[in-house]
Amino acid sequence: MQASLADLEALDRADPLRGLREAFVLPDGVVYLDGNSLGALPRKTLAQLQHVVMRQWGEGLIRSWTAYEWIDAPQRVGDKIARLIGAAAGEVVVTDSTSVNLFKLLAAACRLRPDRPVILSEPGNFPNDLYVAQGLRDLGAGHIELRLAPAAEIEESIDKRVAVVLLTHVNYKSAAMHDMARITARAHAHGALTLWDLSHSAGAVAVDLNVAQADFAVGCGYKYLNGGPGAPAYLFVARRHQASAVSPITGWLGHARPFDFVDNYAPAPGISRFLAGTHPILGIAALEVGVDLMLATDPQLRLDKSRRLSELFVALVESRCAGQGLELASPRDPRERGSHVVFRHRQSYAVMQALIDRGVIGDFRASDLMRFGFAPLYNRYTDLWRAVEILQELLRGTTGRAQDPSQVERSNK
Ligand SMILES: Cc1ncc(COP(=O)(O)O)c(C=O)c1O
Repeated sequence: MQASLADLEALDRADPLRGLREAFVLPDGVVYLDGNSLGALPRKTLAQLQHVVMRQWGEGLIRSWTAYEWIDAPQRVGDKIARLIGAAAGEVVVTDSTSVNLFKLLAAACRLRPDRPVILSEPGNFPNDLYVAQGLRDLGAGHIELRLAPAAEIEESIDKRVAVVLLTHVNYKSAAMHDMARITARAHAHGALTLWDLSHSAGAVAVDLNVAQADFAVGCGYKYLNGGPGAPAYLFVARRHQASAVSPITGWLGHARPFDFVDNYAPAPGISRFLAGTHPILGIAALEVGVDLMLATDPQLRLDKSRRLSELFVALVESRCAGQGLELASPRDPRERGSHVVFRHRQSYAVMQALIDRGVIGDFRASDLMRFGFAPLYNRYTDLWRAVEILQELLRGTTGRAQDPSQVERSNK
């Protein structure tokens, strides 16, 4: 049943996470439904960056590598992210971008299965991940093959030729969520490994890498983790692989003794071997603020709120915008999707631009999708009401007459 504004106001009042919104800078008059793309700015980030820049860098200068433990930042913040994704301390580091980490772990996985040529993924995976796999394939001079199978056929496509199954846990477009434990079990039964992209999962849905027995994972720092634009990413290597997996980027900070400055590379023991060059201290400092905020909340409360927000949004859109050519293109069951939803509409681009002009920020995904993300730390239930009210106005026209969607862009510019 469709919720009323009063119902949503009551949900906001009863929301155990409601106080957290104040921890973020959110402009007045904006309904931000794009935290799955770029998370909001935590208030504390500014003060933290000020401290790191002025005190640690400005006054401490190079002494801060030890005095403020800059040198251990990738492992320290990695251990914190580990708690969000069901990994153990020492299994995650913060470093590089998601793309670079993906390349490193994909190469490492292929080298652990040298007699198997296939990287298995799905069409419609985040294209970047397929591009990275194609780059590795092309570097492999014909020894590596990229095979794509639709989501429903992934499990049956795992065979003795597959080295690694590369999947994004929550699809960036549809939000459809893979069953990580089931696919990983199937991969292992055939001797293959798994590499999960958690960019749309961490902080938004339940992720338990070690319960699922996952082998490798990567993820973004700037989405639900609120680390800021271009925040450093993270990577996970299950402890059982850490002695044998090696990074193809054998940089000095992944060396066993970087400050011995010897000529030959020797990988560090443990997860640190997946570091390459000098890490971005300012970026990690900002990310740590976002991660700390997330860690201060109960994961079940976050999960429940995410599901409720997306479920209520779908119900509101479908009842208030009925007959306006919108079609849900995400799984209907919130247990089968992440914390965003997409609607198909033939004028998606124009409608989304008009929504953004009216202060409702989601995003457009080619060719005809409008994507709306729900961040449990700062989205309110009443945000849904405002977003759907404006969407309804745009689609129907303020007089209540159905409006030609092709006019929407022009009339709102
Ligand atoms: C699933 C997924 N993987 C990776 C990335 C981005 O990787 P990078 O931070 O290297 O640009 C994104 C960005 O939206 C993404 O959605």
